[in-house]
Amino acid sequence: MIRFHNVSKTINQVQVIKGLDLQIREGELFVLIGPSGCGKTTTMKMINRLVEPSSGTIEINGEDISKKDPVQLRRNIGYVIQQIALFPHMTIGQNVSIVPKLKNVPSQECERRVDELLDLVGLDPKKFKDRYPSELSGGQQQRVGVIRAMAADPPIILMDEPFSALDPITREQLQDEFVRLQKAIKKTIVFVTHDMDEALKIADRICLMKDGSIVQIDKPAQLLQNPAGEFVIEFIGPKRLQKHLREYNTSQPPGEIGPLQTGTSKSGGVR
Ligand SMILES: Nc1ncnc2c1ncn2[C@@H]1O[C@H](COP(=O)(O)OP(=O)(O)O)[C@@H](O)[C@H]1O
Ligand SMILES: [Mg+2]
Repeated sequence: MIRFHNVSKTINQVQVIKGLDLQIREGELFVLIGPSGCGKTTTMKMINRLVEPSSGTIEINGEDISKKDPVQLRRNIGYVIQQIALFPHMTIGQNVSIVPKLKNVPSQECERRVDELLDLVGLDPKKFKDRYPSELSGGQQQRVGVIRAMAADPPIILMDEPFSALDPITREQLQDEFVRLQKAIKKTIVFVTHDMDEALKIADRICLMKDGSIVQIDKPAQLLQNPAGEFVIEFIGPKRLQKHLREYNTSQPPGEIGPLQTGTSKSGGVR
């Protein structure tokens, strides 16, 4: 449903994105990962046109997004960033219903949706709907940021390191909730992280980038089983590689995963 055709981006005479070709499927949780500066955020921001490609095209459902009105486009693409900025002078309920209201969803329906979403992330609507952001913990605010992006029921959600500012325990809780939530709502989600454990835990497919290019796109198990070269092994880390492979080997039916191979093919996955 989201397709990059030979997309490049040059900023200050430096090519930071180099001829990306990729397809993100409908209902898939697609994780972009790689070292700092490799181009994850730039790639993501091209999907909602916060950044325009220097060349190449991006299509959503076969339509070239450069021909669409950016404001209209963004109303159908939820966006969550690391330091979500809830509006401080609006209640949680008002924050979550901003976009549905912009889209003229009737207010009763808005109320219902806000309650339902708060419930989904374990925040009792009766308790939290009328509070202000400053009355919530960091983890609670980030949960609100996530459901705010979902409130207008957009088919696509972009998430740029949404959990990375949280303490490890809260982060793991949110990852678990998020996996459950995604099983229920089945959105097309593009999720940026630099944390391989997070990627392995949540992704349907992982796209590992380096210096503006794709190194490997694969399902987590495949990435572990058949890392495409030294960079992938190094990025995953040999210890994690062994640990996760052991976990997969004990949790998957026999035959799903073979012994660790260090393949040299550029990618085993669909591009
Ligand atoms: N607005 C900008 N001005 C100058 N350089 C930028 C800008 N945005 C991104 N870059 C550069 O592009 C590269 C990719 O950045 P980014 O997509 O933010 O990487 P990541 O999210 O993977 O850390 C980096 O080298 C970064 O410095
Ligand atoms: Mg980034």
